Amino acid sequence: MSSAPVSAPASTDPAPTAPASPGTSPYQGGPDIIAIPGPSPVPARVLNAAHRASPDIYGAPLAQVNLQVMAQLKRLAGTRAHLAPYIGNGHAGWEAASANMFDRGDQALVLTSGHFGRSWAEMTEGLGVAVERLDFGNLPPDPARLAERLARDPEGRIRAVMVCQTDTASATLADIPAIRAAMGDHPALLVVDAIASLGCAPMRMDDWGVDVLIAASQKGLMCPPGTVFVWFSDKAAARGATGLTSPWWDWHGRAGSDALWRFWGGTPPVQQVFALSEALTMILDEEGLEAVWSRHARLARATWAAVDAWSVGGGGVRLSVADPAARAASVTAVTMPGADALRDWATRECGVTLGVGLGAPDPALALRIAHMGHCNPGVLLGVLGAIEAGMIALDIPHGSGALEAAAASIARPA
Ligand SMILES: Cc1ncc(COP(=O)(O)O)c(C=O)c1O
Repeated sequence: MSSAPVSAPASTDPAPTAPASPGTSPYQGGPDIIAIPGPSPVPARVLNAAHRASPDIYGAPLAQVNLQVMAQLKRLAGTRAHLAPYIGNGHAGWEAASANMFDRGDQALVLTSGHFGRSWAEMTEGLGVAVERLDFGNLPPDPARLAERLARDPEGRIRAVMVCQTDTASATLADIPAIRAAMGDHPALLVVDAIASLGCAPMRMDDWGVDVLIAASQKGLMCPPGTVFVWFSDKAAARGATGLTSPWWDWHGRAGSDALWRFWGGTPPVQQVFALSEALTMILDEEGLEAVWSRHARLARATWAAVDAWSVGGGGVRLSVADPAARAASVTAVTMPGADALRDWATRECGVTLGVGLGAPDPALALRIAHMGHCNPGVLLGVLGAIEAGMIALDIPHGSGALEAAAASIARPA
């Protein structure tokens, strides 16, 4: 199989182990399939849209495309709120939001459901914010615990409640409307990291009362990494600049700007703007957002059907998140004896790269299957078939009928 993905920094979703040296597999050639939860596969159309020489960055045509992209991003998030784009990754989005919401010493409450929530809390703390964690292990937040904590803050000192809609490591889905309801009339901002869920699972920022939303280009948005977006409500905007708000992070300067360079704090990421335009047109205007959500839900259910079949017989393969309502639409976490060896085997023999067991109790016994963004039944069945072949090759005990179960789930969705 061809080359392995490029390694990512340690603090993010790490790249899978490199495949064994070429020449060891009888199955050389053919396309690689990336089933890691970001960066997700980029459609050829999106790559082609980006593949162009830079135009005049002061010309009207590019400014027009940029404005269209901003409008598309608001539709994607279900909001009429403000939107500040940044060149950067998800971590940059975290810092952008924090630099505008907080001053040093402010209090924040982070609901953690895995590795990414914990990293977000750490990064926010590093800015000098007094971070308190409500830790839910590798499960989604319990709104009752949040309500109980906020009831003990009658003065409203907690400025923000922060939560990942999907923590990509635990592959969970937080119930954002229930979290908003649990906040009652507490004045804290509701801040949602939708980096692994926007464009995959429903998000209705305005209807749900989300004040600040963060998402990046490289997952459900089907684009290369490199841009990140922070949507913010009037309530969040009302704070104005704080001691943490450097001119570059200031979201006011970017949102609704009248000059292209101001949106991006300098030279715009020209090729990325074209990529976003194409991808968002595919999502919003061609397939349709509700259809995109529904496709993700169906692919997720087919994946769960396969893993449930493998789990029969008690060999130790199982879905890491027991409650279907608590599972993400974009990625599935699996507990499996021999998971590390299986990932290596699938990459080497089948060209299928699976996600590492990031944040699992024993990461060597866990893997993640992404069904995020540019994914369909053909790709997913290939991924599941590669896993099944790997379990056979490596003598990992598993129940039978998984591929039939996934196929039936796709053929006759519930
Ligand atoms: C939910 C979530 N938040 C934040 C991040 C960090 O994003 P990045 O690695 O682009 O900095 C990730 C990365 O996978 C993520 O999945």
